[in-house]
Amino acid sequence: MPEQERVLLVGGGGREHAIAAALADDCELHACSSNRNPGITRLASAFHAVAGTDVDGVVEVAEAVDIDLAVIGPEAPLAAGVVDALAEAGVYAFGPPRAAARIETDKVWARQFMREHDVPGCPEFETFASSEAAAEHVAGLDHDVAVKPRGLTGGKGVRVTGDQLTRAEAADYVRASDHEEWVIEERLVGEEFTVQAFVAGGDVVATPAVQDHKRAYERDEGPNTGGMGSYSDTGRELPFVTAADYEAAVGTLEATVDALAAAGHDYRGVLYGQFMLTGDGLCVVEFNARFGDPEATNTLPTLETSPIDVLRAARDGRPLPDVVADGRATVCKYAVPEGYPTAPEAGTRLDVDPDAGLSEADARPFFASVDEREDGLFTTTSRALAVVGFGDSIAAAEAAAERGLSEVGAAGLRVRHDVGTEASVRERVEHARELRGEPTESP
Ligand code: AMP
Ligand code: GLY
Repeated sequence: MPEQERVLLVGGGGREHAIAAALADDCELHACSSNRNPGITRLASAFHAVAGTDVDGVVEVAEAVDIDLAVIGPEAPLAAGVVDALAEAGVYAFGPPRAAARIETDKVWARQFMREHDVPGCPEFETFASSEAAAEHVAGLDHDVAVKPRGLTGGKGVRVTGDQLTRAEAADYVRASDHEEWVIEERLVGEEFTVQAFVAGGDVVATPAVQDHKRAYERDEGPNTGGMGSYSDTGRELPFVTAADYEAAVGTLEATVDALAAAGHDYRGVLYGQFMLTGDGLCVVEFNARFGDPEATNTLPTLETSPIDVLRAARDGRPLPDVVADGRATVCKYAVPEGYPTAPEAGTRLDVDPDAGLSEADARPFFASVDEREDGLFTTTSRALAVVGFGDSIAAAEAAAERGLSEVGAAGLRVRHDVGTEASVRERVEHARELRGEPTESP
């Protein structure tokens, strides 16, 4: 048997636990992050306590262990230029260089790029270089908008008027914030979904659609979070996403990769599209330059194609293989500290043994921000633990996720139990029917 390749995984959250699980059998996995993720440390051959944003530190690790290939999980290392630095050191990283990662990391650049290159689904927007000018603009509008600071905010910087707050409140929020540069864009109304694709050499290989639940509380109430849970169906579509919608989403990802190439960026890595199905068709809420978290926990475990084959093809300049999914539906539910995201309570002890599997065969835990100490696992101020259920329908996967959750003992943690339930999915289907002007079932 040939010697296994050494793969460096940068990042230590739930998404990276899912990436590690998808790669560990097929390579010698080296993990690199500031936190010790108990799921990742148990899968990796070696763990290096270096933050992904410590670019020199990551390069040092890659050189010291003679890494064959790197995978970058989160956005912050991309923004810090880790891909560029690894390339300089002769290490291929699956992830975009800093300039191309702006599609996620710089919301001003991303919208201007979409407009300039006629990428479909771009809402009306204006950009502002001072928070005062942006706030004045918002206060004087007669329609609803989304206000977005230019840089990365972990999914928590956007405010939508007419939904979360009034325009006057949004103006105050902009004025009081530390951010100077803003995008103020048309408020999109509809149902959101995600499509993620592997990209390299101009190839775009899409994975099944997923719906995340960004709001903190059940029935989509409360502040935005990094994502409280998500589901995917047995096919590539979702119950409210038709084959035509899915194809349109993939077409938008392809158009974006072509436009990036025209602008001199040979994009590589994951391109994540957050789409809004509206009454006027599909719009782009945002792009990300990496897998989603939790969306990676839905798609990666169901891939029959080994991701290592995709990464190797990308590195070696070969066409990317198609990725085949195994046809299971998935439901992911995140257990988060009480008070998350506004006033999260760190230090709650989790009643879960990372060395023990679940007796529930159709569910899998993925660890995120937990602190592993001698006396157990404790919450930090971010999402703690995701449980993903699998089944031959979304309902079966949802039931499996709940059984898994009750086993890991998420006592003291908060979960959105409505993610993936039949009632919740039905509401979304009805909402999409309404948006399309089709008759709805409920009176
Ligand atoms: P982002 O950080 O860009 O993912 O935005 C977080 C969330 O804000 C999205 O998932 C949407 O729910 C919402 N959002 C962002 N842009 C818009 C928009 N133009 N209209 C309505 N909602 C939006
Ligand atoms: N779940 C949303 C994100 O990863 O950005």
